[in-house]
Amino acid sequence: MNRRDVIAAAAMLAGSAMAPMAFAQALAGPSKRVKALIGEMTLAEKLGQMTQIPGGRQRALNSRLDAAMLDRVRRGEMGSFLHVAGAEPLHALQRVAVTESRLKIPLLFAMDVIHGYRTTLPVPIALASSWDLKAAERAARIAAEEARAAGLHWTFAPMVDIARDARWGRVVEGAGEDPYLGSRMAVARVKGFEPDGTARRVGILSCAKHFVGYGAAAGGRDYDSADISDRTLHEVYMPPFYAAMQAGTGSFMASFNDIGGVPMTAHRDLIGGMLRGRWGYQGIMVSDWNAIRELIKHGIADTPAMAASLALRAGVDMDMASDTYAGYLAAAAADQPELLPMIDQAVERILAAKERLGLFDDPYAFGDAAQEKSPLDRRTARDLAQRSIVLLRNEGGVLPLKAGAKLALIGALADDASTTLGSWRARGLPENAVTLRTALPSAEFADGKDIAKAVAAAKRADIVLLAIGEDYDLSGEARSRSDIGLPGNQPALVEAIKATGKPIVAVLMNGRPMALEAALKGIPAVLETWFLGIESGPAIADILTGKVSPGGKLPMGMPRVTGQMPMTYAHQATGRPANPDFAIDSARYRDVDIGPLFPFGHGLSYSRFEYGAIELSAQTLGAAGTRITIPVTNSGAVEADEVVQLYIRIPRAIPARAVKELRGFVRLTLAPGQTKRVTFTLTNAQVAAWVEGAWTVPGGRVELMVGSSSDDIRARAALNIIERPRPGSTVAPAASIETKVEIA
Ligand code: GLC
Repeated sequence: MNRRDVIAAAAMLAGSAMAPMAFAQALAGPSKRVKALIGEMTLAEKLGQMTQIPGGRQRALNSRLDAAMLDRVRRGEMGSFLHVAGAEPLHALQRVAVTESRLKIPLLFAMDVIHGYRTTLPVPIALASSWDLKAAERAARIAAEEARAAGLHWTFAPMVDIARDARWGRVVEGAGEDPYLGSRMAVARVKGFEPDGTARRVGILSCAKHFVGYGAAAGGRDYDSADISDRTLHEVYMPPFYAAMQAGTGSFMASFNDIGGVPMTAHRDLIGGMLRGRWGYQGIMVSDWNAIRELIKHGIADTPAMAASLALRAGVDMDMASDTYAGYLAAAAADQPELLPMIDQAVERILAAKERLGLFDDPYAFGDAAQEKSPLDRRTARDLAQRSIVLLRNEGGVLPLKAGAKLALIGALADDASTTLGSWRARGLPENAVTLRTALPSAEFADGKDIAKAVAAAKRADIVLLAIGEDYDLSGEARSRSDIGLPGNQPALVEAIKATGKPIVAVLMNGRPMALEAALKGIPAVLETWFLGIESGPAIADILTGKVSPGGKLPMGMPRVTGQMPMTYAHQATGRPANPDFAIDSARYRDVDIGPLFPFGHGLSYSRFEYGAIELSAQTLGAAGTRITIPVTNSGAVEADEVVQLYIRIPRAIPARAVKELRGFVRLTLAPGQTKRVTFTLTNAQVAAWVEGAWTVPGGRVELMVGSSSDDIRARAALNIIERPRPGSTVAPAASIETKVEIA
C-alpha cells in the first residue's frame, strides 16, 4: 500500500483529529538538552528510542539479555526494556548504554508492578473495595519503593479501565464500575507511584492504562471490540484517564481494543486529537504488547510498515515488543516524509521522560542492592488487606465468631498461597504468603476435593468456614469466563456442606464479582476477600474473629447470575423501569430478581450507623460549589468504619441521566456513640453531561442522595442549578472532578 493510501487510511481513522502539523504545534517544546540530542541522532537511533523489547519473560526476568540484545544497545538502537529487574543486572545493562553507545542515552527499565513488587498487597479491585484513598496511595508507594530499589524506572500501572462486565478477566486489575471512584483511585495510585509529580527522587514512572474503553469489550471477552456511544465513552471510560493525567502520570498505554472498528493503537482522534490536542498531555504513549503489529490482524493495515505509520500518526511514541517501529518506520518515512517530524516528537517525549527521571544526570539513581533485600512490609500488607474485606451478609450475627467455637475450614483456596498473590505478581513469592489455613491453625481443615471428608469435618464443627471462589489464574489478562459461577466441584461441595445444617460463613476468594445467588442461598454470612496478598490469612482471621470490624464496600455490583452481565447501578431509567410486578411489562428478566445480588457500594459492619438530615449551604448549585453536610453516628457497640456515599440524579434532562451517579465518598472511623459531620462541596461542572462533543451543565434540579450504598440511601435533598457555563468551557470529564470532603 503506498503513501497516498496510508494517508487516506489514517484520515479515515480520525474523525475530527488535528492535521499532523496542527497536532505538532499543540505540544510544548522539549528542553534544550533534548532538542540538541535529537539534532545529533540518526534515524536508526531515533527509532531505537521508540523501541521497547522484553529483556525476559514474566516468569524468567532478564533471561533474554543476550549478546545480540547488548549489541543493539551499543548501537543506540534500543530505548527501553520490560520484564527485567535487579539492581545489579540493570546497572550493568545501563552501563552498556551510557558508556558504550555513541550518544550515551540511558535506557528505561519497566515492569508490571501492579499491586506490589516483593511485598504483594491486595489486588486492585480489593484495594478499591477499601474506598480508602490513603490506603491506595500507600500501596502504590510501597510498590514503587521496592521496584525502584530493584532498578526499575517505570511501572505499567495504574490500570484505570472502568468495567461493568465481570466476565472480563481484567476486572481484577481495576477499580470497578464507577468513573468517580475509579478517578479517585487513579489519582491516589499515581500519587503513590510518582509522589511529587515526577519520580526524580522517589517512586517510579506510572502509566495510565489501557487507553481507552478496554473494559467495554463485547461479551466481556478480553481484547474484543468495544462498541459504545460517544457519550458513554466520555462519561464512563474517560474520567479516570483525565484524573490520572491531572495527577501527573508520566505515561499512558494504548489499549488492544478497537472502538467501533478503529483500533486504539491507531486512534488519531482520541490520542492525537483528544489526549494530546484537547487535554494537552505531554507524557509518553506506549503501545500494548505487540499491538502495533496487530493492526494487521485488526484489518486496517496490510503491512508492518503501514501499521507502524498508522500508530505513529495516531501519537503512539513507543512500540512495546513488536519491533515494528525499528524494523519498518525508516522505510515508511522514506515514502512519507511527513512522518519524520512525528518521529522527532515521539523521541522528544521519550527523552523528556528520561530527563524528568534524572537519568541523564545519574543513570544509576534507581537501584539499590542493599535496599532490594529490605524486609517485607507485612504490617502494612495486613492493614491494607483488612481494609479491603467486604462483609456482604451477616444474618443472625453469625460474625464475628464466638471465642472457643470449634471451626471447620473447608476449601482448597484457604490453603492456596499462590492464589493470594493474584495475577501480575512481579517478584511476589507464594512462600511469603500466609494463607487462611495457616492463620487459623485450630480449625480442622479439609480441602473439599473429597466431599465426604469435608462433610465429616463440618459435622465435627460448631461452625463451618467455607472458602470458595476461583483461583488466581481464572481472572486477569486473557482470563474471561462465559460463566462466572463456581468452577470445579465447588457447587456440589457447597450443597453438601449446606446439607449438614451447620452454620456456614462463606469466605469468597476471587478476582471478579461472581454469580453466586444459588450457591449462597441459605448461607447466613458472606465475606468478600478477593486476593489479599501476602497477609491474606491473618487479615481474614482478624475480621472473622472481630479483632477488626469490616469496613469495605463493593466497587462493582455482584450479579445473581452470569446472564445479567453487563450491569451497573448507574443505569438509565428507561420508559419502562424494572418492576417486580410481572403484570407490568418492564426492563427486567423474568427468570431472575431485579438488580444485583449485592449492589455497588454495599458492605456491612459489626456496628450500625445512623444518618441525620442533609444540611445545605444554599438551595442552588453553581461554579462556587454548594456544601452538603450530613451527621453520621456510630450507634453500635464497637469502633467501626463507614463509607459515606453521595449520589446525584438529574431527574429531567436531554439526554436522560442515569438513576444515580456517585459524586462523593469518604471512609470514616467512628467510636461507639461518636458522631462526625461530613461535608461534601459539589460544583455544577460535576453534574455535566457529554452532549454533542462538549461537557454541558444541564438546567433544573439535581437530586442529592447520601447513604451507605447505592441501594441504601439514608437522606435526600435537592438543588436548583443556576449557573450553566458555556458548553465545552471545560475539558474535564464531570466524574473526574474531585468533590472536596471535610469532616468535623
Ligand atoms: C500485557 C497487558 C498490559 C501489560 C503489558 C506488559 O499484554 O495488556 O497491561 O502492561 O502486556 O506486560
